[in-house]
Amino acid sequence: MYDRYNRKINYLRVSITDRCNLRCIYCMPAEGVKLLDHKDILSFEEIVLVIREAVTLGITKVRITGGEPLVRKGVISLIEKIAMIEGISDFGLTTNGVLLSSFAVDLANAGLHRINVSLDTLDPEKFRAITRGGDIQKVLEGIESAQKAGLNPVKINCVVRNSSNEPDAVAVREYCRENGLEARFIHEMSLADGCFTIVENGHGGDCANCNRLRLTASGMIRPCLFNDIQFSTRELGIREALERAAGLKPEQGSVNSTGGFHNIGG
Ligand code: 5AD
Ligand code: SF4
Repeated sequence: MYDRYNRKINYLRVSITDRCNLRCIYCMPAEGVKLLDHKDILSFEEIVLVIREAVTLGITKVRITGGEPLVRKGVISLIEKIAMIEGISDFGLTTNGVLLSSFAVDLANAGLHRINVSLDTLDPEKFRAITRGGDIQKVLEGIESAQKAGLNPVKINCVVRNSSNEPDAVAVREYCRENGLEARFIHEMSLADGCFTIVENGHGGDCANCNRLRLTASGMIRPCLFNDIQFSTRELGIREALERAAGLKPEQGSVNSTGGFHNIGG
């Protein structure tokens, strides 16, 4: 599938829940956010149908996100179903890592290829503050379990305030070098202000080369994180929503006033 600007669209990011077991300061307010009703969340069957259709349109790369995807009940059976779809050559998941140590082997056995874990600092107290209560030890154990389970390359997403040379980022880079992990540095963004930059070492934020569509937990296809355009798979039908979203993918991001990282999945 190509868009109006001749960008090849081959990557679908799939948010499977708007819930999260952390409250990162740059993502959610302390009290959390209004959560979707159960009936408004796509079932596993619906998610699989959307991905199947997307694959027939040229999607080859799928990433599961949230919220925190590992808090969705039955996530392993969903991963199994998606892994069985023919035509996906790259199948990843982004997690905060808190529950990863107990899920890593099952994720690998279910057919997931690789994993990205968020880690902004190595300082347990700072980690607790940034995530409003998270236990860094669990995340570090999760990263190790993922590597052992063969979910490689394990990539680390590190959100930076100002630069990837600030002390926390330097420490994360060093930890990654010592442990065979790939570090990516993401500048803190504001969706509402349209403030975003490219991901160092990654692909996000590079509008000219953007190959993505997103599926939200409520079944909307969004062509751009920094735009309000979205089409409902439930109302329009899956193929129509995918084609309209790809057809209207903006040349570059601007602002997004209707969604947040917690429900579009970063
Ligand atoms: N700016 C940049 N990245 C963000 N994420 C969440 N909120 C923001 C933000 N405001 C990213 C985190 C996490 C991923 C799930 O979403 O890097 O790794
Ligand atoms: Fe949860 Fe990720 Fe948002 Fe942190 S950034 S609150 S881990 S969804």
